[in-house]
Amino acid sequence: MRILSGIQPTGDKHLGNYFGAIMRWAEQQDEAECFYTIVDLHALTFPQEPAELRRSTLDLAALLVASGIDPDRSALFVQSHVPEHPRLAWILECMTPYGDLRRMPQYREKSERQASFGVGLLTYPVLQAADILLYQPDTVPVGEDQRQHLELARDVAQRFNNRYGETFTVPVATVPQTAAKVMDLQDPSSRMSTSADSDAGVIRLLDPPDALRKKIRSAVTDSGREVVRSPDKAGVSNLIELFSAATGEPESEIESRYADTGYGPFKADLAEAVVELVTPIQTRFAELRADETELGEILAKGAMKAHAVAAQTLARAHENLGLVAPTQP
Ligand code: TYM
Repeated sequence: MRILSGIQPTGDKHLGNYFGAIMRWAEQQDEAECFYTIVDLHALTFPQEPAELRRSTLDLAALLVASGIDPDRSALFVQSHVPEHPRLAWILECMTPYGDLRRMPQYREKSERQASFGVGLLTYPVLQAADILLYQPDTVPVGEDQRQHLELARDVAQRFNNRYGETFTVPVATVPQTAAKVMDLQDPSSRMSTSADSDAGVIRLLDPPDALRKKIRSAVTDSGREVVRSPDKAGVSNLIELFSAATGEPESEIESRYADTGYGPFKADLAEAVVELVTPIQTRFAELRADETELGEILAKGAMKAHAVAAQTLARAHENLGLVAPTQP
């Protein structure tokens, strides 16, 4: 079984990224051959400060290793190190209907917020399809918000296979059962996001323990005191999911433990569970981040593994399309 997934380097990563993706990526290394990519080319859909992009790419590499991605077992690589990604993306762009891209929810949301933007914002999901299809993965572990992008990747693969013969595996999205959509602690009707207007509702993996405790203590709940999941208790339901994701305990057990306590003790214990989870990650992050040479070597090794697979898939796609292969001198 083979797995691929990706994550953008911009913005400090939060518990949504961790429970929705990174933690699952680490778990799946025992079961599958894994490819995990830091999608720096995707980040270019919005203007980036070069020094900041460089820093955040290396930060994310260190954070992923610190979170348990093992570079000896998995290919951990930077998207721009493997030139097959934009090469396949162009080919797929030529066969993706413009209307399909214009209708993508994330495009509509993001384009509405900008006075002007580059074409890459529209073609973003095609580059994502290329990221995926190059590695012929069976599954793609992602959070809930990526479902439509995965659907598009499946459509693109099927269209290509029907027209030019079997070329790509049609991948399946795997979305976790718990915490597939972690909500903002201050606005539980919005997804926790790196680009949130306020930082108060976003728990970053690298937040100092005290900041993190404070954010959980001030999380929006409601005027009641019952720790139960319910559609009209979005804030509390989100905290219960976070508790369950952080400790592995079933949500029903958490509900019964805090049935009579009110929100205070529940939030305090949740904060401690999250501190316990992130502390070893933060320690390991600091060690890894201090050695850029080693980080560079990890990423170079990952890119080599990735390139070997990606080049084969692209060659097959070229051949099936009728593009003439260059003669070896
Ligand atoms: P990105 O960088 O926004 O997010 C990385 C992963 O984190 C998940 N995630 C969440 N899960 C639960 N709750 C949340 N609040 C939350 N916020 C983010 C995302 O679902 C994702 O799994 N387009 C992708 C990156 C990408 C990619 C790919 C993913 C590029 N190529 C190929 C998979 C395969 C993105 O922007 O993810």
